[in-house]
Amino acid sequence: MKRARQVLGRTNPGRRRRPDRKSRIMDIRFESEARGDAAAVMAGEGGALMDAGRALDERAGGALAKAMKAARFTGGANQVVEILAPANLDYGRVLIVGVGDPAKANALTAERWGAQAVRRTLTTGAETLALLPEAIGELSASQAAARAAFGARLGGYRFDAYRTKLKPEQKPSLTSVIVQAEKAPKEDEAGAALAQGIAFARDLVSEPSNVLHPEEYAARLRKLEAHGLEVEVLGEKAMADLGMNALLGVGRGSERESQLVVMRWNGGKKGEKPVAFVGKGVTFDTGGISLKPGPGMEEMKGDMGGSAAVAGAMLTLALRKAKANVVGVVGLVENMPDGKAQRPGDIVIAADGQTIEVLNTDAEGRLVLADAVWYAQEKHQPAVMIDLATLTGAVIVALGHEYAGMYANDEDLAKALEKAGAEEGEQVWRMPLAPAYDKMIETPNADMKNIAGKPAAGSIIGAAFIKRFVREGQKWAHLDIAGTAWKPAPYEDPLSPLWATGWGVRILNRFVKDRE
Ligand code: BES
Ligand code: MN
Ligand code: ZN
Repeated sequence: MKRARQVLGRTNPGRRRRPDRKSRIMDIRFESEARGDAAAVMAGEGGALMDAGRALDERAGGALAKAMKAARFTGGANQVVEILAPANLDYGRVLIVGVGDPAKANALTAERWGAQAVRRTLTTGAETLALLPEAIGELSASQAAARAAFGARLGGYRFDAYRTKLKPEQKPSLTSVIVQAEKAPKEDEAGAALAQGIAFARDLVSEPSNVLHPEEYAARLRKLEAHGLEVEVLGEKAMADLGMNALLGVGRGSERESQLVVMRWNGGKKGEKPVAFVGKGVTFDTGGISLKPGPGMEEMKGDMGGSAAVAGAMLTLALRKAKANVVGVVGLVENMPDGKAQRPGDIVIAADGQTIEVLNTDAEGRLVLADAVWYAQEKHQPAVMIDLATLTGAVIVALGHEYAGMYANDEDLAKALEKAGAEEGEQVWRMPLAPAYDKMIETPNADMKNIAGKPAAGSIIGAAFIKRFVREGQKWAHLDIAGTAWKPAPYEDPLSPLWATGWGVRILNRFVKDRE
């Protein structure tokens, strides 16, 4: 029974406190003479200070070198030595942050350096941080500055919306970062847009499921219209009219109405076929009647990570006014057990007419995607389609939290994603699609079943299932991001300081950028 809203309202923590987005995105400026309460300099492997650090060390009478030695600092990436109140310097605190071998440094090195400096200064009491980056590896001084600034934006990310009892010393003190550079690098605007998209995705993944249910999620996406995106929301009635029973079946046990949200960015040539991004947005996955075990189930609030990546990428594209036509389609559903929930053994007719025997209601993401990819193809005829989903535990067994599993029916598309992922620090590992796997989802009772029935090749089977809804000739890739959408503590990558990573925004944005 769909109960009245007021009753449900009781489980909601209330509307008073909402994440304060502005405070979490650092104010970043570029100045040729950066001052601040604290400063960060680079040091390479072997503990070798780079130019800016050497200059400070000289003024401070060798205090930096002495501190590095005392701390056994070797200059490895992300290593930090902090010097408090160094004599003869205006800075109250100097951070020496390692970059590893400077000759091998790339964009990500400079990003991590900036992020680590921010992370370590965030709650120290310092309000302004001067970042003193320099040319390293393949980066010019200006590129290093741009990347350090971008890293600073990501490294300063927090999700404190519901932490009402933080002591003053636990709250971020840092409000602005001044990056030393001759002038603001031209890449900075795009970097700010990307950081904002990532923060948006992280916020969505971090939100608890009593707050971020499908209706609230759709409402938040609707607000992206303010940034120039066209947003369309389909409720259950509209989806039923289209025959989207695979998606709707998953949401049957939920008190919340399932939603399909379509976001369009038309920055490209008129009439040019769009790139389509499709995301799994299961706002909570209990497993349904095939109920998941209790321990760790809370992590399933992040089972909408694929859709968050799509939403974050769409926001970034709009903010940086990408010269591309892109459509994002997300299926927002809550998978709950209930008297109305679908049962194991139920057979549903998907929007494209194929029938599915639902043998396990916990293999729900593929059911959502079946209809969402149908919608993207039917209504938008995309040039390429990429879906993202926290689809299987099996991909974590295979690849851990480092790589996402990638499946593709097109070599160029696979290569483009591998390249984009490597450059953005969101790596993908290609997995196979083959007829032998496809056979494993045959059933005498319907066109296909939603699980293979034995614990083998779990991530591949998920991909094989989605592939059945990909049309002949449609270029398509599937990213299984169950291992990368969030990561277990300790959160070691300074670019991604919390549980939710926002994984996917960077690779999608880069994929589009490489085609512009
Ligand atoms: N959302 C889960 C996959 C998942 C597991 C994501 C762990 C992140 C961390 C998905 O809906 C699911 O339950 N998959 C099942 C599929 C199985 C029933 C064939 C799984 O992986 O066990
Ligand atoms: Mn599931
Ligand atoms: Zn799921």
